[in-house]
Amino acid sequence: MKGLNDYIAQNRDRFLEELFELLKIPSVSADSRHKDDMLSAADYVKDKLLKAGADSAEVISTEGHPIVYGEKIVDKKLPTVLVYGHYDVQPPDPLELWESEPFEPVVKKTVNHPEGAIFARGSSDDKGQMYLHIKAFEAMNELGDIPCNIKFMIEGEEEVGSAHLGDFCRKFIEKLDCDVILISDTAMISMDTPSITTGLRGLSYVEVEVTGPNRDLHSGIYGGAVDNPVNVLCDMIASLKDENNKITVEGFYDKVEKVADEERELMGKAPFDLEAYKKDLNLEDVNGEKGYTSLERTSIRPSLDVNGIWGGYTGEGAKTVLPSKAYAKISMRLVPHQSSEEITDLFTRHFKKIAPNTVDVKVTPHHGGEPVVVGTDSDEYRAAHLAVVDAFGKPPIPLRSGGSIPIVALFEEVLGAKSILLGFGLDSDALHSPNEHFGLVNYFKGIETVPGFYKHYSELKKQQK
Ligand code: BES
Ligand code: MN
Ligand code: MN
Repeated sequence: MKGLNDYIAQNRDRFLEELFELLKIPSVSADSRHKDDMLSAADYVKDKLLKAGADSAEVISTEGHPIVYGEKIVDKKLPTVLVYGHYDVQPPDPLELWESEPFEPVVKKTVNHPEGAIFARGSSDDKGQMYLHIKAFEAMNELGDIPCNIKFMIEGEEEVGSAHLGDFCRKFIEKLDCDVILISDTAMISMDTPSITTGLRGLSYVEVEVTGPNRDLHSGIYGGAVDNPVNVLCDMIASLKDENNKITVEGFYDKVEKVADEERELMGKAPFDLEAYKKDLNLEDVNGEKGYTSLERTSIRPSLDVNGIWGGYTGEGAKTVLPSKAYAKISMRLVPHQSSEEITDLFTRHFKKIAPNTVDVKVTPHHGGEPVVVGTDSDEYRAAHLAVVDAFGKPPIPLRSGGSIPIVALFEEVLGAKSILLGFGLDSDALHSPNEHFGLVNYFKGIETVPGFYKHYSELKKQQK
């Protein structure tokens, strides 16, 4: 786009300051103490959409956190792109592991970001990646070059399962009418090797409660004679994987798609550096399902992980107690054609079955989501590909990701539109972790790439008419 790079260069400082302002708002969706911050963040996004040139923008309330909607309709006959993103962030805990304050953004250099990265909760997931769309939109407006209609839907509940977005989409189905959905909430392999995300894993998430004796017991008086629910829970969890790291839940793999050898071969060619991966995590070695590479284990294969486990005494010092209850939160990442509901069901049955009769087991399902595959043989994929070529000077590699964005499958079901996952972060950006960051280059390259998507998409659509 003519003049785009100049416009970005001239407004660089302001583009950064505005993102910093947004990052300073602690919009933690999981924590009810931040309800007002959620509203402030939504207002901020709405305001910036209007300033960037939207015809209209509004904060629409839901039963949960509000959704920001804005649009610019150039001509009803032109194609329409709906941009989706989220302004909510994960809780910043554990706070003591942050090197700077989570809601006071600072720029620091890292190995993967030699030109500097913005450190703050939400910088990469997803405020930085969402805000770059608003700045790309501003640039296009200022340069008078908007080739299609653009709608924005920025929600505040992605990190807690998007509970109200499905109803919102059904209610405003006409307002949200579009040809394609554009999302930047995933990662690239590296800045040297751009990639486009062609798959997301689904999610099944459960909480388990194991109850032994009717009360906490003295571990001297009863220890050895009464089954300890914490020990039992550990045994049960340990049995969920066999010696080859296959998940033992009965029926778990029944519907797992067998990926063609050719696709696996192609994945093997993706420039994944296992040594750098281990070094980044300070690990001597990695481990996972036998017969698959690390990239495969996090994309085309399902996984099962304990996210938290507790029970008994965890305070300071020692307390000799045989606890009555033990708990764990367990997530399963799913691949095509596993269904979240079915897997939750299989897990529940299996977990109850393997419990010894010395304990009672309760399994409570949390939010889940279905896996997604993005085809590469479409105008929208080709447009994303061309936009990346223009901005990065290299063709992007299609690659499935291990993360989940449950709402993507729902968009297709309710709005009947496919999504393009054009992410600009890196997997090493410490999403959901202390010291989350987003590269400055990633932010500005994102702003540079997005207008190319609109341009190529509109041209490809025109050619078909
Ligand atoms: N943006 C992430 C998902 C993601 C990150 C996909 C990196 C691919 C690469 C999203 O905000 C997220 O964290 N999703 C959750 C699921 C949700 C139900 C809380 C996840 O994947 O754990
Ligand atoms: Mn996200
Ligand atoms: Mn997230």
